[in-house]
Parts: sequence; structure tokens; C-alpha cells
Amino acid sequence: MAQIAYVNGAYVRHCDAAVHIEDRGYQFADGIYEACIMIDGRCWDIDGHLERMKRSLDALEIDMPMGRRALMIAMGELVRRNRLRDAFVYLQVTRGVAPRNHPFPKPWTPPALVMTARRFNLDQSDAQAARGVSVISHPDIRWGRVDIKSVGLLPNVLAKEAAVKEGAYEAWLVRDDKVTEGSSTNAWIVDDQGVLITHPKSHEILGGITRETALVCAQELQIKVHERAFALEEAKNATEAFITSATSFVMPVTKIDTTVLGNGKPGPVALRLREAYKAKAREIAGA
Ligand code: PDD
Repeated sequence: MAQIAYVNGAYVRHCDAAVHIEDRGYQFADGIYEACIMIDGRCWDIDGHLERMKRSLDALEIDMPMGRRALMIAMGELVRRNRLRDAFVYLQVTRGVAPRNHPFPKPWTPPALVMTARRFNLDQSDAQAARGVSVISHPDIRWGRVDIKSVGLLPNVLAKEAAVKEGAYEAWLVRDDKVTEGSSTNAWIVDDQGVLITHPKSHEILGGITRETALVCAQELQIKVHERAFALEEAKNATEAFITSATSFVMPVTKIDTTVLGNGKPGPVALRLREAYKAKAREIAGA
């Protein structure tokens, strides 16, 4: 069966799906994206993802391409047409197509919406969590508004590639000796009192939707959280570490650069939080 993509109102064969060469996303990275997971046909953390999508679009003065309800129907339809139950769904909105020129196009052009869906393997993710993953540190050279989920991801791409070259799962980005976040995940550590530490929401990190739900779970589990920046050295001396994202959920980190954390196995706090996150995400999943 051919894979199906959504391009500006049409469901097309993935191999035929295309955007215009003067799409401003292509020429200027003038657009935003969202990435979310559907399990059993229901989207985890959908409210958070759609609210952040709106915030990112508002920050760039791009209109929401369609209403929230219509968008959810289109996402569901895309997943259905691809005959998926568990899926990674990618949404991208750009300022649309116009002759190349830096200012916003005048007259106004409609935003362009593209969506793709592919299979997500929950068992594989759980198996990886049971083993834990390693991360490397990498300089954070990104711009000053990384809270906007912009498609301009070159520093993230370079950091992730550096991680892959080292056989690591993720790169933790370091600015002024502080870990901001991962190249596509939020970064957390656990201190010797069992307190969770993660960078506060600001223009310096992407406010993860998984991070938000994990914070709720931590509160329900009566685990203390300090939202503050932490140094790379502090992370290497931490009891545990983990990352969060829509595709990783809560993923235990067992090694940072050459430093093995604890006994080199996923920590109990991270594993507990992962189970709590999965249960909560399932409970609040949208149609
Ligand atoms: N990445 N920080 C960055 C830089 C990210 O790109 C992401 C998400 C996160 C976690 O956000 P969330 O919990 O909402 O997924 C943090 C997605 C998964 C991606 O780029 O594919």
C-alpha cells in the first residue's frame, strides 16, 4: 500500500507529495512544525501540541491553516488512510508560497500545511527505555527564540549528527556551562535527594509538551521538582538523568559523554515517571 501524505487539503501518495520551490519554509525556514504520537488511533497530549502550534504561529504572525477540530479530523484521516494505529504524525505550517523576498508577502498568501504519518513502535521504545540511552554534550549555538518550534533546525541537526557519530542517542546542548536541553528533547537530572531538575521554560528551550505532562505526573507521584538550569558537571554527578519528548516519552539516560551514571542502568525515578507518563497520556489522549 502506498504511503499517504497530506498537502494543502489533498491526500496524495507520499512519493508524489511536493511543495512549491518558492515555499518560504524551503527558502527561509519561515514556518513551524509539531510532532506527536498516536497510540491506538488517539493522539497523546494533543491539546498541548495544538496550543503550542498556535503559540509558534502567533509568534511568527502566521495564521492557523484551519480550525482545531478540522485539523484533528485531517490528522485522524491521514493516519486512517495509512492504515496505522500507532503513528508518528508530523505537521508543518509555513508562510506559504511567494516570490523570494525577505519581508512577509504582500498581498498576504495562505499558509501551507503538510502532514505525514509513519508507524511508531511502542515496544521498541519500551525496550530502549529498559536499556537506557547515552548522550554527548555539544555547544548550544542556536538563536534566541528556540521556544518557537521553528523548522529552522540546523544547529539541532548538527548536534544530533555529532551524537550519532559517537554512537549516542542524543546531544545535550550546553550554553554558558549550563545544559539547556537536548537537540530534540528536554533534559532532566535527579539529585541524591530524589529531586528532579530541569531547565525552566524560557526563550532558551523549547517548552516540551511531554515535559509539561511529566511535571504533572511528578506532582501526582509527590516527586519534588526544581525548574532551574544545571551545569554539565552537575549532570555527570547526578543520581539519574533522563530526557523527554513526544517520541521518547520519558527515556532514561545512563551515560553522559564518558561518564556512566550510577550503575549504568536506567534509574528507578525515570522508569517510574515513564510509566506514569504513559498512563496519563493514554488517559488524556484526544480522538
Ligand atoms: N522534538 N526540545 C527540542 C529542541 C525539541 O525539538 C523537542 C521535540 C523537545 C520536546 O518537546 P515535546 O515533548 O513537545 O516533543 C524539546 C520533536 C519530537 C522532533 O523534533 O521530532
